[in-house]
Amino acid sequence: MSTTHSPTIANLEAAFAGESMAHIKYLHFAKIARAHGDLETAALFEETAKQEVQHALGHADLLFPAAKLNPQQVLQLAIAGETHEYTAMYPKFHHAAVQEGNHLAAGEFAEQIAESQQHAAEFAALLAKAAKRFAALAKVEERHAKQYEKRLESAR
Ligand SMILES: [Fe+2]
Ligand SMILES: [Fe+2]
Repeated sequence: MSTTHSPTIANLEAAFAGESMAHIKYLHFAKIARAHGDLETAALFEETAKQEVQHALGHADLLFPAAKLNPQQVLQLAIAGETHEYTAMYPKFHHAAVQEGNHLAAGEFAEQIAESQQHAAEFAALLAKAAKRFAALAKVEERHAKQYEKRLESAR
């Protein structure tokens, strides 16, 4: 995932992945417990899952500091992530699953190629819209600046 050689960044990424995974895993375990009528176990998993989200969000803010990032930058980060998924990661996983004869996993990976591509396209469309808005704003600013200059000149 990362191009950095910092062990701490790599550890944060692993911790972020682990806590995020624990969140989903515990929601899944809660569903299993609930299906067996064990509401107490289900409730404990659901409560713990909520805490794992908070742990993951804490790691996320160290990896992607909210104070330093704007919507355009996070859209770009998201596009890069989804693009990696549909161009490299899932095609590789899909190929391996087919070779291994695991058709369920192959089907799931193929679906994820399409989903990730769709997500990347949605993020890119919004980013393009934002870029247009910025360009329009810049033109308005330029017009205001010119009007201001004219007024300054005529006042002289
Ligand atoms: Fe945790
Ligand atoms: Fe996605």
